[in-house]
Amino acid sequence: MRILVVGGGGREHALCWALKRDAPDATVFAAPGNPGTAQLGTNLSIDAVEVGKVVEAVKELRIDLTVVGPEAPLAAGLADALRATGRPVFGPDRAAARIESSKAFAKEVMQRAGVPTPASRTFDTLAPAIGYIHRHAEPLVVKASGLAGGKGAVVCVTRDEAARTARAMLAEGAFGEAGREIVVEQFLEGEELSILALTDGERILLLPAAQDHKRLSEGDAGPNTGGMGAYCPVSIATPALLERVRREVLEPTLRELAVRGAQYAGVLYAGLMLGADGTPHVLEFNCRFGDPETQALLPALPGVTRHLVEIATGGWRPERTTLDATRAAVTTVLAAPGYPDTPELGAAIIVPRDVEPGTLVFHAGTYRDPDGTLRVHGGRVLGVTGLGDTVWEAARRSAAACELIAYQGKTYRRDIGWREIRRSGAGAARG
Ligand code: GLY
Repeated sequence: MRILVVGGGGREHALCWALKRDAPDATVFAAPGNPGTAQLGTNLSIDAVEVGKVVEAVKELRIDLTVVGPEAPLAAGLADALRATGRPVFGPDRAAARIESSKAFAKEVMQRAGVPTPASRTFDTLAPAIGYIHRHAEPLVVKASGLAGGKGAVVCVTRDEAARTARAMLAEGAFGEAGREIVVEQFLEGEELSILALTDGERILLLPAAQDHKRLSEGDAGPNTGGMGAYCPVSIATPALLERVRREVLEPTLRELAVRGAQYAGVLYAGLMLGADGTPHVLEFNCRFGDPETQALLPALPGVTRHLVEIATGGWRPERTTLDATRAAVTTVLAAPGYPDTPELGAAIIVPRDVEPGTLVFHAGTYRDPDGTLRVHGGRVLGVTGLGDTVWEAARRSAAACELIAYQGKTYRRDIGWREIRRSGAGAARG
C-alpha cells in the first residue's frame, strides 16, 4: 500500500510512524514532511495547502490512501478534490471541515443539534458586539471565527478587554480574514478534555480521552501556545462520560452535518470543558487529529491505522465503539527559545541515538542541513513521547529523554500530565 500523509508537523510524523508500525510493508510519502518523516519514507516538496499539486502527486505516485493532517488543506477542499478523482482519503470534505474553519458555523450546528456548548453570539460588526459584551458577565471569550492557527480564542478577564479584543479583530484586522466574524462566548470553568472520534459520518469509534497543556509554563500558567504537551488516557473520562459524549455531542453533530449535506470521513475532535455538574460542553470542534494529542494517542493504540484505511476506502465496520489505550503515553513538546511570540530559530540540535528506552521522538519544527546537522526550524521543535504502565511512569520517561536532547535555549514543561499524576497520588508517593 502506498500512503501519503499531508502536513509536516509532529502529528504527521506520528501518523507516518503509526502507519509503518501497523503496516510495515507500506510505502510512505509526506507532503511536505520533515526530517522525522524522511526517516520513514519520502518527503515531497509540496506545501500541504497546494491542493492541485497534492492531487497531481497522488495520481503520479499511485497513492492508495491519503491521510490529511492539518485543517487548512481540508478547509481548502483537498478531500473533495481527491474524492472527485476517486482517490481514497482520510479527512472530511470542505463543507464538513467548516465545523472547524468557521466557529460561527460550529455554534449554529451545535445550537440546532442541541449540543451543550457555552452561550454565545456571532458578530460581523463592532457596535452590536460591544453592546453584547457590556450586557454580559465577565470573563468572556472572544474568538475569531475563521482559522487562526490555534491562536484565535482570547480569554478576556474584563469586559473592557473583551471590547478591545473585539475591536482588534473586527475593526483593526487582527487575525485578518479569520477575524472578520467573531464569536463572543461565556467563559466556563472546569477541566478540559480532548475527545477524538474516528467516523465515516455514521459509525463512531472513540479514541481514549487525552488532555493537552496549552499554556507555556508549568502549572498551566503563561501565554497560550499551540500545545506544550499531552497525555492519555485520562481517568476522569469514564466509560459513562464517553458514552454521554457520543450520545449528546458526536451523534447529534454528525446528524446535523449530514442534514446539511456535509460528508464526514475522518476524525471529529471535540474540545470539551467538563462543567461542575459533569456536563461535557463543547468549546470547539476540530476536523482533524489534535497536535500534540496524536503524538501520545497513536503510540498507545497499536493497530489503529487499519480504521483509517477502511474509513477512506469504504466498508468500515468497527467491532467496538471505543478503543482502549494499551499503555499510558505522555508527550512533552520541546520548543524554541522565545516561543510562542518570537521563536528563535537556527540552533543545532543533538538527539542521542536510542535516546531513552520506552520513548519516541517526533519531529515538528526541525530542518536538516545538507551536511546532516539538525536545526531548530519552528516554534515547536520536537515531541518526546514516553510510554509506561501509568501516566506517572510515561511522564518520567518523557522527561528523562527531554533532558538528553540538547540545543541552545531548549524550552519545555516538566509537568505534563500533572493533573492525572496528582489524581493517582503517584508523584507524591514515589517522589
Ligand atoms: N491540541 C489542540 C489542537 O490540536 O487544536
